[in-house]
Amino acid sequence: MDIAAADKLLTTTRSVRKRLDYSRPVPLDVIQQCIDIAIQAPTGSNQQGWSFLIVTDAEKRKKLADLYRKGVEIYAQVPQPVRPDDDLRTQQRPRGLVSSLHLVQTMEQAPVFLIPCIEGRTENAPQFAQASMYGSILPAVWSFMLAARARGIGAAWTTIHLFFEKEAAEILEIPDNVTQAALLPVAYFTGEDFKPAKRIPSREFTYFETWGKKR
Ligand SMILES: Cc1cc2nc3c(=O)[nH]c(=O)nc-3n(C[C@H](O)[C@H](O)[C@H](O)COP(=O)(O)O)c2cc1C
Repeated sequence: MDIAAADKLLTTTRSVRKRLDYSRPVPLDVIQQCIDIAIQAPTGSNQQGWSFLIVTDAEKRKKLADLYRKGVEIYAQVPQPVRPDDDLRTQQRPRGLVSSLHLVQTMEQAPVFLIPCIEGRTENAPQFAQASMYGSILPAVWSFMLAARARGIGAAWTTIHLFFEKEAAEILEIPDNVTQAALLPVAYFTGEDFKPAKRIPSREFTYFETWGKKR
């Protein structure tokens, strides 16, 4: 295992919004390869209840992007939780906002939308079932992003269209017993200088034996 290469992939796979090259087509075979890699991710009881819906149709992308934009209007009204250690998060917010705004305005231009889905619904489901359901699709989504990034393809993990999940399901004819986990606009990225992000140091929230007890 080339640890340096693996660590680079794991630490420089970012949410790409401003550097998605909308003009360059993404071959569907390459997307399929990334999905082949993604499905090596774990699932509860090895259920593999996932589906990956690839959307290239321009009209459908526009409709989904419109739902995303409607969702952003709602999201903008939701108060963000304030935390005592918020400095690092807020420092990065202005850059994040510019990048998010760009995505909001242009998202339908991404040649491919990927909607990872999982069988089941969390409404009224016990905690065990909720954890198992999302835990059986989200690792694969991240693996997809890693595999794509290794091939020069970027994606932005988004969920805001899910304020209108039903409407999106209607556009895509997704059955009622299936949950959409995300919507990823996918495109080749420009440049190759992604960097590890500044995060709150892990020691701040790594506990030993008892909640809150640091080393
Ligand atoms: C569950 C989840 C939901 C997210 N939803 C959105 C979204 O709707 N729109 C968006 O622009 N970014 C979204 N993001 C991306 C985060 O904003 C991003 O991961 C975070 O700012 C850190 O940046 P990085 O991914 O480049 O490290 C989401 C990420 C996750 C994991």
